[in-house]
Amino acid sequence: MSNNETITNYTIKPHGGELINRVVEGNERERLIEEALNFKPITLNPWGISDLELIGIGGFSPLTVFMNKEDYTKVIEETHLSNGLVWSIPITLPVTESEADKLEIGDDIALYGEDGQLYGTLKLEEKYTYDKEKEARLVYGTTEEAHPGVKKVYEKGNIYLGGPIKLLNRPKHDAFSNYHLDPSETRQLFHDLGWKTVVGFQTRNPVHRAHEYIQKSALEIVDGLLLNPLVGETKSDDIPADVRMESYEVILKNYYPEDRARLVIYPAAMRYAGPREAILHATVRKNYGCTHFIVGRDHAGVGDYYGTYEAQELITQFEDELGIQILKFEHAFYCEACGNMATAKTCPHDASQHLHLSGTKVREKLRNGESLPTKFSRPEVAEVLIKGLREK
Ligand code: ADX
Repeated sequence: MSNNETITNYTIKPHGGELINRVVEGNERERLIEEALNFKPITLNPWGISDLELIGIGGFSPLTVFMNKEDYTKVIEETHLSNGLVWSIPITLPVTESEADKLEIGDDIALYGEDGQLYGTLKLEEKYTYDKEKEARLVYGTTEEAHPGVKKVYEKGNIYLGGPIKLLNRPKHDAFSNYHLDPSETRQLFHDLGWKTVVGFQTRNPVHRAHEYIQKSALEIVDGLLLNPLVGETKSDDIPADVRMESYEVILKNYYPEDRARLVIYPAAMRYAGPREAILHATVRKNYGCTHFIVGRDHAGVGDYYGTYEAQELITQFEDELGIQILKFEHAFYCEACGNMATAKTCPHDASQHLHLSGTKVREKLRNGESLPTKFSRPEVAEVLIKGLREK
């Protein structure tokens, strides 16, 4: 864990002013692990465990809790916490009615993963019902079950548990151990690298030329890039995180200056909530110490649920309150006539000159072992992806 003085002095303050740390260590941890044997147990799915971890390590600062009803309602209805801070996605702990019936307000609850491991504890302050369709409509902008985030809402237990958590054991990210840093550690890293301005880049896809173009455009005006791929739960047809991580390593090694970019995992689950999730993504990256955050085309979108620039439009409304600068990029493509990457802001040619490949098309080609056009993806990246998917 890094030196608190440096963290506090670091250029951008966490959301709410203080980096939360609910990781229990040393004797207290030993004692709590022992006591937790007598706590009532519940089992969290991987999504719940990743939320627990992000609260614990301060990625979700200022949250110290799974939300109570007041915060939950304010977040879904007004995009704010009850303390007035912007917050866009509810962070909740669902259980079934029969599980909830066994729990009393005031109970200490042991939080286990599906692997049987104890991860943390919750002090139960509240149990409450919620309206799933309302949550779907307000957070995801649709009540359709075909939306992967909405589907998850409908599958959850009907009761939310609210209360403060403690993190006792860290979920393992063994495959990514070289790239596993907490927000306090990335803050220290940026300090050590002498970066005063850092742009955060969220992704759940391999880096293609358009990503590289917008990252490097941003790098022209800031000191460093935090390539911060989401490695928690994604929908089944997204490229698995371990395969993607290899593709990030390859591209960073060959095409980015060593002292200007760092790869660090973002251990969250993907919600596919488009505009609302763009706000969450920016908030979390502020906690990791980024001063800037990229929102491009259809950020965190899925299918046709959101307009191309809807995420940019929504986040613009909250940008001042968020306190992290949002770098908004238009849809980038390769233009045959320009002979380079461009956007409508920089290219005068019509769409027939522009190379477009949908995510679905890309995945289809890769799964069939076909290479990708070099104007779309660096050949080294495509190679890693084809090999990785073949091995799966
Ligand atoms: S996301 O779900 O994590 O947003 P993705 O990994 O595809 O998906 O995108 C990462 C970031 O790059 C997002 O900010 C997205 O808006 C942006 N982006 C992706 N493709 C393009 C593109 N062709 N032009 C501009 N921005 C893009």
